[in-house]
Amino acid sequence: MTASGDGQTKTTVAAEHLRAVTERVFGARGVSTADARFVTDVLVEANLRGHDSHGVVRVPKWVIGLESGAINARCAPRVIRETANAALVDGDRGLGPVVAKVATALVAEKARGAGIAMVSVRRASHIAMLQYYPEVLAAQGLIGVVMSNTEPGVAPYGGIDKVLGTNPLSIGVPGRSGPIVLDMSTSHVARGKIVAARNRDEQIPEGWAIDDQGRPTRDPAAALLGALLPVAGAKGFGLSIMVDLLAGALSGGAVTKAVRGTFRMDEEATKGDLFLAIDPGAVADPEAFLDRVEDLKADVRASRTAPGVARIYLPGEPEMECRSNRLEEGIPIETDLLHELETLAAEAAA
Ligand SMILES: NC(=O)c1ccc[n+]([C@@H]2O[C@H](COP(=O)([O-])OP(=O)(O)OC[C@H]3O[C@@H](n4cnc5c(N)ncnc54)[C@H](O)[C@@H]3O)[C@@H](O)[C@H]2O)c1
Repeated sequence: MTASGDGQTKTTVAAEHLRAVTERVFGARGVSTADARFVTDVLVEANLRGHDSHGVVRVPKWVIGLESGAINARCAPRVIRETANAALVDGDRGLGPVVAKVATALVAEKARGAGIAMVSVRRASHIAMLQYYPEVLAAQGLIGVVMSNTEPGVAPYGGIDKVLGTNPLSIGVPGRSGPIVLDMSTSHVARGKIVAARNRDEQIPEGWAIDDQGRPTRDPAAALLGALLPVAGAKGFGLSIMVDLLAGALSGGAVTKAVRGTFRMDEEATKGDLFLAIDPGAVADPEAFLDRVEDLKADVRASRTAPGVARIYLPGEPEMECRSNRLEEGIPIETDLLHELETLAAEAAA
């Protein structure tokens, strides 16, 4: 057990312990062994990569969804509309990662045949850390794009009400020395980072959020009552709008204030997801494309660094650095959360 800087006691655990406990929690609530293992992998990978706000901290909420019946433990996702290179998947109210796994496999299969493919998903809950899925596609030599719309918490550019979600977007491109994977919410920061600042009794930087009267605030408590701001002003706002439409509206799901399924888990999900896959070989010489990817990495890394900056990272590299550290040193997790997970797993065994 270690003291942490965010006002909560933390314990460092091996990824394998977290996996074993989390799999038991899901398995005990009717989720098949294979699905429990996959959902656990997505969540523990988020912890390994430093995205703790999208890791096992989600488990107690997802348990609420499973126990209330809002989430279907034994979902059977099915294709309800299909062409040679497109499909609409009904997630049957399943756990988001279980449905996302089906969508990822389907979009890969279609892209290999057609060069480019899209799969829209509706009626699936939160898919957690998006980068997991484009990375699966990149490992097969495909470019992957995944986006999701989420419950409202972000003000429109120039507005002050919570209208948009944090609406994340991830793009993965294969490379010989590993993929380049961008994975970002379209808000300035994830809500979890403001909660962490409040727990540490720290001010947040200006520009992250506004209070409930629309005034810029550095007080995390006031920010949580107010709204998050889009990243990069009007540009992040524009991206968020497009994610809401391409993930939400296109799948037949909800947009803006009617979106459910990412925060409150006792209601059926109305959010949507979009999965795109591109086979570089459809338009380019695949080897030449991979050469350019490596050229880009080398050129970016060769830039002189700004004062105080030790090295330049490509998108996805900070996560991979954190992953190798946490595999070696363990994952720091709030002690209370670990106990809660162990209790939920033990209830299973009883
Ligand atoms: N499923 C959902 O509904 C949902 C909603 C919101 C966010 N999320 C997830 O939350 C996670 C966190 O999102 P975020 O916006 O806080 O991410 P972030 O701000 O930590 O990172 C955003 C991107 O910037 C890159 N990056 C960060 N620091 C860098 C540096 N120094 N140099 C180069 N690149 C750098 C990262 O690799 C990443 O691709 C993501 O995995 C996202 O998918 C999921």
